[in-house]
This record gives sequence, structure tokens and C-alpha cells, in this order.
Amino acid sequence: MQLGLESRVKDLCNHPLGRDIIEKLLLQLGKSNRWVDNPIVGNLRLKTLKRLTGKKVGPGFFDAVLGLLNIEPDSPKAEEITPEPAWWKEAVFYQVYPRSFTGQGLPGIIKKLDYLHKLGIDAIWLSPVYDSPNDDNGYDIRDYYGIMQEFGTMEDMETLIAALHDRGMKLVMDLVVNHTSDEHHWFKEALADESSPYRDFYFFQKGNSDKPPNNWTSFFGGLAWNYYPGNNIWALHLFSKKQMDLNWESAALREEIYKMVRWWLAKGVDGFRLDVINYISKFEGLPDGNEFIGELMKYTGVERYFYGPKLHEYLRELRKEAFEPYNAFSVGETPGIGLRAGRLLTDAYRKELDLIFNFDHLEVPGKTRFDDYKYDLYHLKNFYIKHLNADKGHGWHTLFFNNHDNPRMVSKIDPSGEYAKSLAKLLAVLQLTLRGTPFIYQGDEIGAENEPFTSIEQIVDVESRGIYEDYLVEGLSPEAAFKRILAGTRDHARAMMKWEEVARQQEECESVLVFYQRLIQWRKNTPSCVYGALEFVDEKNRDALRYKRIHEDGSIFVEANLCAKIIKSTAPTGATFLLGSYKNGVGDLQPYEARVYELSSKKRE
Ligand code: NOJ
Repeated sequence: MQLGLESRVKDLCNHPLGRDIIEKLLLQLGKSNRWVDNPIVGNLRLKTLKRLTGKKVGPGFFDAVLGLLNIEPDSPKAEEITPEPAWWKEAVFYQVYPRSFTGQGLPGIIKKLDYLHKLGIDAIWLSPVYDSPNDDNGYDIRDYYGIMQEFGTMEDMETLIAALHDRGMKLVMDLVVNHTSDEHHWFKEALADESSPYRDFYFFQKGNSDKPPNNWTSFFGGLAWNYYPGNNIWALHLFSKKQMDLNWESAALREEIYKMVRWWLAKGVDGFRLDVINYISKFEGLPDGNEFIGELMKYTGVERYFYGPKLHEYLRELRKEAFEPYNAFSVGETPGIGLRAGRLLTDAYRKELDLIFNFDHLEVPGKTRFDDYKYDLYHLKNFYIKHLNADKGHGWHTLFFNNHDNPRMVSKIDPSGEYAKSLAKLLAVLQLTLRGTPFIYQGDEIGAENEPFTSIEQIVDVESRGIYEDYLVEGLSPEAAFKRILAGTRDHARAMMKWEEVARQQEECESVLVFYQRLIQWRKNTPSCVYGALEFVDEKNRDALRYKRIHEDGSIFVEANLCAKIIKSTAPTGATFLLGSYKNGVGDLQPYEARVYELSSKKRE
């Protein structure tokens, strides 16, 4: 059904993408979803809503939203199915950020494979190691077929693949194809020569230096456009000034990308994590973004590319042309993609992506990464109840709390650090017993916390530095601007891995590291953890998260205390304590304690 201004709010809510967008906007505004479920609001026509809210949302808001909705005719499937088994549903992944894993590039990673193997890791996601001038730590690729000199050689890469496979482990590389470095030869030739075959690989627009082609802003501060005065031309970059967006409309570009992906797969790589892959299809003509949405999301223009008209088409083509011949695995990084659009991207019958990373659980409603606040675990509970209950066996979830783009979750929940180790163990229990594929980020397994940065000089990340500059331009003092950067800077997660701490924890039987090792080994022998049906218990309780994983080969019960006070355990009678984050696992639940029990019988309790 096509939606228009005569449609009602409830029609918008019934549209899969409409519901996602409303929920996202409400989340950013810090408002509850109950607002749109109110029948009076639901019956409002959009034209009335437009009249009522016109001043606040500004011109173009409704057109932008309706334009987005009317490109998506499909809805996620509703009937319950049993998910097909797959290696990547059973595997425990570990993300290696090569710059700070050992500081010794690929040879350093190879030396640590036994450590990862002992931890129980089945597959590694390796952040970019391609040749790059490193404006954004390798996410600005100069040559897809080369290795960054400081990380080693192609021979090292081949050794790494072989060494992983020898241990029965797999390798997932980062695939950054929304943009390349401005030092990639495609961009250099395209800029220098109007008739270059690479000219339409990028978004160029002729014009005057005082009039950028649209009002989009960059994720890393300032405009999303570079002006090249010698050529009187603008070029689009959603990220840093050296990360130029690729134009997927060009069939020749897409063919180059598929060729490159096949080349890596032929080398033995097992799959890819696809960087900001939902941004590859931009709305035709690159129309201005709505200022209200821009303010809310902190970036202007996002609604013009986060779910573009050809996204599904491109993903299907990529899968068919490059992934399928090698039976390769794919996980997409998809910022802004909500529950329903996420299901459309990952349901197996659609042949697009295997998994996606949804980020809505990383901040509570109304907060963004750069806000300094205390994270409430009740939000995490609600996120899982909503997302994991909704899939009906279609698609599969990723379970993660950290990556190279976010401050450490334990520090967000407890900035004082008092409960850091208990929290790290609690997150480990959830990550390894909820339904989905765990992605551990380097340092999670030792309970790594945020870094104690004290000045902007210690911050090296291009994003934080760009946003810091924006704050200064807005009139903030250097101290205030630094304070704003501190909560969200990606440098917290990019600090060098603390190997002395690893060695120490290895010897301590109650350490986070030993706990992770035990949990992962136990998960490998517990089918209910992977394929068991998930049943949440006590859904409304703010203080605890409780659920069962039910499987014919044995079922488990998990309970986690989400707060710093002592609460009663409600483990079912007959449940046997298996493992937990505190030594004994009896009596009341201690602050942030998490326990796993075996249920007495194999059938539903
Ligand atoms: C997402 C990556 O995870 C992040 O590190 C990078 O800066 C941007 N995409 C741009 O590639």
C-alpha cells in the first residue's frame, strides 16, 4: 500500500519501515513507543499531524519519510519457522583491531592464535589491514589488493589464513566498499580527468565553492563535501575528508568490487564484515536532508541514504556474484537499521546478508554516544525482549557490547569502575546464552574499561578530533569540548590490549578471562545455548533479566541481576546451578550477579 498525507498514523505504524522509523525517532527523542500506540494518535491523518507539528519538524519532513516508506513493499514474515543450522550460528567470533591488538601487525596476530584458540574462539573478524594512508585507521583503503606496510606483507596474510585454518578457525575480513581513500587510483584518476572511466565511480558535482551540492553533513564533522578549486568540483564523503563515497549506480564499479571480493575469497578468506553497508544506495539526485531529522540524529542527510532504494538489489547482486560461489559468510554493519528492516536484510530466503549489527542497544533512549550518562541495563533487557521475541525463527541475531567504535560498555554502566569485573562477567553470560552469534571485542575477555584520558592531545581518532573542532566552532571552550568528546571517543576501545593483565588473569581462577574460557567451552557442549527456544520470564521486572533456553537435549535457566542491590533468586525448584559470575551461586543474587542453571527435566518446565 502506498502511503500519503491521507494515510493515518496507524498505517504508518503498520508499515514495517514506518514502525522502525517512528521507533528510532522516539528513541532519539527519549520518548516511549506508547505514544504512537494510543488509538487517538493512531487515527490521526498524516496531514493533520503535519499541521500540528509543521513548525517543529520543518518543511520536507513528511515528504522525506513518505518517500522512504514507499520504496519498501515487503514485510517481514510472520509465521514461526525453525532456523536452519549454520556454522556461523554456532561459532564464537572475536574482533581483532590490528593496530592495538599487539602492535606488531599480522605477525603479532599469528603469535596470539593459540591464545584465541584456547579461549574457544572459532572465527576472527579482522578490522582492515589493506594498504591505506590511515586517515581512519585503515577504513580508508588505497589498494584493496595490498597489505598495509606497517602490518606486514601478503605472505603474512596467507600465513595467517593457513594458521587459522590449521586450528579449525575461520577468518572474516572487513570489506569497506561504501568509500575508498582519496589516494585510491580510481579517485585520483577520476578527479584529474573528466573522461576517466572511474569518473562515475564517485559522486562529483561541478559548481562554485560557496554552494555545496546539498546540506548533508559528515559523520566526522563539517560538510559531507570536499571542494577541489583547481577543478571547480565537489566530491561527496560521508566520513573523513579522505574517505570518498563510491557510486554504486555504476555497474563497472560494482563489477570491480565483486572481482576483488572473489579474489580474497579465492585466497581462503571465509567471509566479510561489511562496513556501513546500508549506506551504499543513495536517493537519486542526492536531495537535501530534513533539518529536524538532522538535528535529532546529529547528522543531516541520513534519511537519504541509510535505506536507499536499491539497497536490497545491490546486496542480492553482491551475494550472487561474489559470496555465493564461495559459500562465504556476511555480516553487515548497518547503523540506523531497525528491527523490521533488519529482518528483511537477514531472512535467509531473501539471499542478502547472513547477519547484521543493530546498534540500538548501545545507548538508552534520548542519549547518543557522546552524552555522559549512566547506562541503565533495563534498556538492554527491553531491547532483547523486543528483538529476540520478534524474529519467529527468521534471520539470526548478533550479540555484542563493544567494538572499535564505542566506549567500553562496562564503563558506561558503571563509570566508577566498582563493579567492572562483575559487569564484564554478566555481559559474558548474556552474550553466550542468549539466542544469536556472539562477537567478542578484544579486551572484553579481561573486562577492559575506558581509558583515563585527561587531554585532547591524547585523542588521536579522526572522528573525535573532527567533532571537537565542530564544538570549538560552536563556541565551546577547549575544556568543555574535551569533556564532551571524552564520553564517546572511539579511542577508549582502541587502546593497546593489556597483555600483562591477560597473563595475570590466566593464573587467577575467578578472573574474567577464566570465566570466559569456561563459559565458551561449556557453550560448545550445550546445544540449547545455540538452537534452544528462548523464553523470557518475569518480563516486566526492572531489576533482573531471566530466561530459559529450551532444547530436547536439555534446557537451561539464566538469571541476571541488573542492578547494584542484592535481590532474590527465583530459580525454578529442581534447577541445578551450573556456573555463574560469583563463586557459590547460592542464595540471593549479589550486585550484577549472573547465573546459569540446568533445568531438571528435558521438557518445558
Ligand atoms: C564504520 C567503521 O566501523 C568505523 O570505524 C569507520 O570509521 C567508518 N565505518 C567509516 O569506514
